[in-house]
Amino acid sequence: MKIRVLGSSAGGGFPQWNCNCRNCDGVRRGTLKATPRTQSSIVVSANGEDWLLVNASPDILAQIAAHPELQPARRTRDSGIAAVLTIDAQIDHVTGLLMLRERDTPLPLHATDVVWQDLSSGFPVTSILSHYCGVERHSIPLAGGFSIPALHGVGIEALALSSKAPPYSPHRNAPQPGDNIGLTFIDASSGKRAFYAPGLGKIEPHVMAAMKDADLLLVDGTCWTDDEMIKLGLSKKTAADMGHLAQTGPGGMIDVLDSIDRPNVRKVLIHINNTNPILVEDGPERRLLAEHGIEVACDGMAFEL
Ligand code: MLT
Ligand code: MN
Ligand code: ZN
Repeated sequence: MKIRVLGSSAGGGFPQWNCNCRNCDGVRRGTLKATPRTQSSIVVSANGEDWLLVNASPDILAQIAAHPELQPARRTRDSGIAAVLTIDAQIDHVTGLLMLRERDTPLPLHATDVVWQDLSSGFPVTSILSHYCGVERHSIPLAGGFSIPALHGVGIEALALSSKAPPYSPHRNAPQPGDNIGLTFIDASSGKRAFYAPGLGKIEPHVMAAMKDADLLLVDGTCWTDDEMIKLGLSKKTAADMGHLAQTGPGGMIDVLDSIDRPNVRKVLIHINNTNPILVEDGPERRLLAEHGIEVACDGMAFEL
């Protein structure tokens, strides 16, 4: 199984178009040792030719252009993206669906039933797409595993997470199981497991169990401190309010990852907000992560399991 990080940033990207925080300003001017990042998305493939796009970010066209393996050009109109799965209905994970409208067959789209509701009500992208390529609906079950034809030999397990439905969701304030999911991809031949959860608000026991079994962890790296956005005067919301567990503090993501001691496990933070000091490659926060054996995802990062 192959996994590629298309976009390692949280919603807004890095630098964010209107942001002059230390990180965004510094990377724009070249005064900070940091690398730009596009918005939250990965691709997974069993054969290296057909890919499952996990989250369709607003940057999808640039991400496809940066990854020639997603454009095998077998026919006049063709794409290596065989199917799409969205883990929630957040803007940074679904807006890119509109960019895939030129397909000549309906887009196979995998999402939980509650995400399907959001995508046909609060943000009716599936209704809009019905006037273009259309979408082929596939419901992700919250119990037991499932598979996707294009990923032959890869099993998938979804687990309901405590995070947040988007602000426009009819159930933003009445969370439903399946508003946000984490995914485990299991390669049938190697037995290796990858766990992906870019929005992880709370580490509940079933989440910890899935994390402990994984050989690759791609987990929520949004904020370094819970009050990061408030301290910078950029938001009134804590990371927790937005459904993200900060890296520092008791029970934070560093503590959680420290408690996982599977041999050869790779621990990688993904979905990094542009305010997060771990983006500074020669900074103390990045050094501290390295001491804990934790990596920071960048666009183009590739894994083979
Ligand atoms: C989030 O995960 O909280 C989102 O990135 C927010 C957004 O896209 O606006
Ligand atoms: Mn996001
Ligand atoms: Zn910024």
